[in-house]
Amino acid sequence: MIPVRKVYLETYGCQMNVADSEVVLSILNNAGYERTDRAAEADVALVNTCAVRENAEQRIYGRLGEFRHLRKSNPGLVIGVLGCMAERLRKDLLQSESSVDLVIGPDEYRRLPELVEHALQGEKGIAVRLSRVENYDDIVPLRTDGISAWVSVMRGCDKFCTFCVVPYTRGRERSRTVRNVVKEITALVERGFKEVTLLGQNVNSYRDGESQGDFADLLEAVARIDSRLRVRFTTSHPQDMSDKLIATIARHDNICNYIHLPVQSGSDRILRLMNRTYTSSHYLNLVGRIRAAIPDVSLSTDIIAGFPTETDEDHRMTLDLLREVSYDGAFTFKYSPRENTKAWQMGDDIPEDVKVARLNEIIDLQREISLQRNRVLVGQTVEILVEGPSKRSEKDFTGRTETNKTVVFPRDDAAAGQYRKVTIDRVNSATLFGSLAPVTARRKAANG
Ligand code: SAH
Ligand code: SF4
Ligand code: F3S
Repeated sequence: MIPVRKVYLETYGCQMNVADSEVVLSILNNAGYERTDRAAEADVALVNTCAVRENAEQRIYGRLGEFRHLRKSNPGLVIGVLGCMAERLRKDLLQSESSVDLVIGPDEYRRLPELVEHALQGEKGIAVRLSRVENYDDIVPLRTDGISAWVSVMRGCDKFCTFCVVPYTRGRERSRTVRNVVKEITALVERGFKEVTLLGQNVNSYRDGESQGDFADLLEAVARIDSRLRVRFTTSHPQDMSDKLIATIARHDNICNYIHLPVQSGSDRILRLMNRTYTSSHYLNLVGRIRAAIPDVSLSTDIIAGFPTETDEDHRMTLDLLREVSYDGAFTFKYSPRENTKAWQMGDDIPEDVKVARLNEIIDLQREISLQRNRVLVGQTVEILVEGPSKRSEKDFTGRTETNKTVVFPRDDAAAGQYRKVTIDRVNSATLFGSLAPVTARRKAANG
């Protein structure tokens, strides 16, 4: 009997990649491969990669170097690069001195069994065609049982922000059907999942070709599956966020009051150069409409510091906008030029030390704002979905509020996977600390 081949898979980048890795494992599992958590015992080692910034790629190159070392004790090891770097670098990754045997882009995962098989016979393989239709709608991702699941509802991006590689690595926008998304999530609820996050680079341009439903319709359909299921989604592009969508979030208790709404910059001149297609006043107006409809909403953003030609004045406008919106959190990045994007031709004229100084100013200001917003919660009792042991300490558990804030509290094994109330004792800018409130009869019923 041929021993079962073992696959090791490591994932970098955004949640879309996390979701794709579950599709990859499902495809390989159906072809008879078994998953392993230990690279040292694998026959096939795969990395699902991210190309969004230079430092993401550098880290992955480092990892590939480590895989190469494993060949000393396991000369037959097949090493494969999947995802966005595969698409960006293509056959360059297969150069003779590299250790890579397989290069497979995000729309070619159905070919994995065939290509892996050939690679195990010693034949290098590459598959990097992008598709206008592939959305893996019929593939059930391989998820281990758990509390929270990522569900990809659309692929690709048509926005072409000038700094971004995603439209080139992921191809054109395409959506799954409402019918299949609802089917998949219904099965997850039956397995005991308590939370789903609907994923797309720009979920607001979701469009079901079958029912013609938009993202608000999809969200509504998912929220109706089970009133105890928490529904999240990411990412929303400010240009496509409709009033219908805002009203849908406001109307359903189980659609979380948390919106990740990346602004990137507070300067209209920079936003234009970025091709973000909105101005800061359009953005602030949108935030106003969201806050009016969903008063306790929590907002987060992405910011890029040091985009080409960014002046101190442009930077100051970003700080002003952070103050004005008062986000609960921000993901902040130094501009990283990416070959073949429009911004690449604009040069990279902001010196590294200026980029770093601006980035630090943004981080410091946002930390202060997040702290102020978290402080309001001290003494309050809030509901969380308990996730399990904290990464930092065995003695603690963590859970998240509807507004996506992490709460740390003393371990209670019976609480795992449950909705529970916690009273907040203290906070910092990133985390809330509290203690579990006793379970009431009503809450017991709600936890089913
Ligand atoms: N589709 C999502 C996010 C995609 S990438 C959106 O539209 O918001 C996540 C974030 O990475 C972006 O929001 C942006 O802030 C950052 N990013 C993308 N390309 C970058 C680059 N070349 N340099 C620095 N940050 C970048
Ligand atoms: Fe990139 Fe812009 Fe598309 Fe987001 S919306 S993935 S930043 S091109
Ligand atoms: Fe990175 Fe690709 Fe996601 S470039 S951020 S893994 S879509």
